[in-house]
Amino acid sequence: MIPTPIVAGNWKMHYTPQEGYRFVEEVLKLLLNTKKVNIIFCPPFTTLFHIHALLQDTPYALGAQNIHWESQGAFTGEVSPLMVKSCGAEYVIIGHSERRHVFHEPDDWINRKVKAALAHACIPILCIGETLKERNNGFTPGVLENQLQKGLAGIEERNLSGLVVAYEPVWAIGTGVNASVEQVEDAHHMVREVLTRMYTPSQVAKVPVLYGGSVTPDNAGGLITTRGVNGFLIGGASLKADAFASIITIVEKNYQEE
Ligand code: PGA
Repeated sequence: MIPTPIVAGNWKMHYTPQEGYRFVEEVLKLLLNTKKVNIIFCPPFTTLFHIHALLQDTPYALGAQNIHWESQGAFTGEVSPLMVKSCGAEYVIIGHSERRHVFHEPDDWINRKVKAALAHACIPILCIGETLKERNNGFTPGVLENQLQKGLAGIEERNLSGLVVAYEPVWAIGTGVNASVEQVEDAHHMVREVLTRMYTPSQVAKVPVLYGGSVTPDNAGGLITTRGVNGFLIGGASLKADAFASIITIVEKNYQEE
């Protein structure tokens, strides 16, 4: 049993609430209420609430791009799971490569965030992926295993039904160089192998594993038909209404349950 495909748009630090609202209105006109693909908009914190209002009568979901692990407290500049949840976020991206590499978030923070999201019934999209140096040195399997084991430390099997994993090779993010079909197939296989060592295979089969890194309408067809790929986490192309909508259409038409 393979899950419904997901297409999540990670806007990163783009669009004011007004711009974001107009953008989602534009995307909604192109989408025609597809229910075959789970579509998730992940705008900046400041825009969550506005977009939530717009998505109310649609099948589409909202996600945040990060959270702190505490519900409240003296953490200047941080935003809690409780807060994003009350703005309508049902998902949260955790451990994105920019959080890991630009803001130096360690694995134990990522693990606390995953736990906090789950505790607030917010679905974590746990991002993992190797750098180019790690790939070139043959470290990809070890890096993926380490990030999964540390990110999911202490997470019980019953939580797997509310978890998404995104394989995002760092060298493919925002570079215009996507991972090849073979590289993606291999990495997704490794992800499921590691998860299967940690949990019961029938439960692991329910976890969607997304690919992210320079996904465009041109490469989406090949990538979505790659074994083990259950959807995409998209950065740049999720900021263009036409491109985002056409990737969704490609996923809708080509995704096959294995
Ligand atoms: P990209 O970003 O699609 O622009 O490569 C992906 C991501 O950062 O999630």
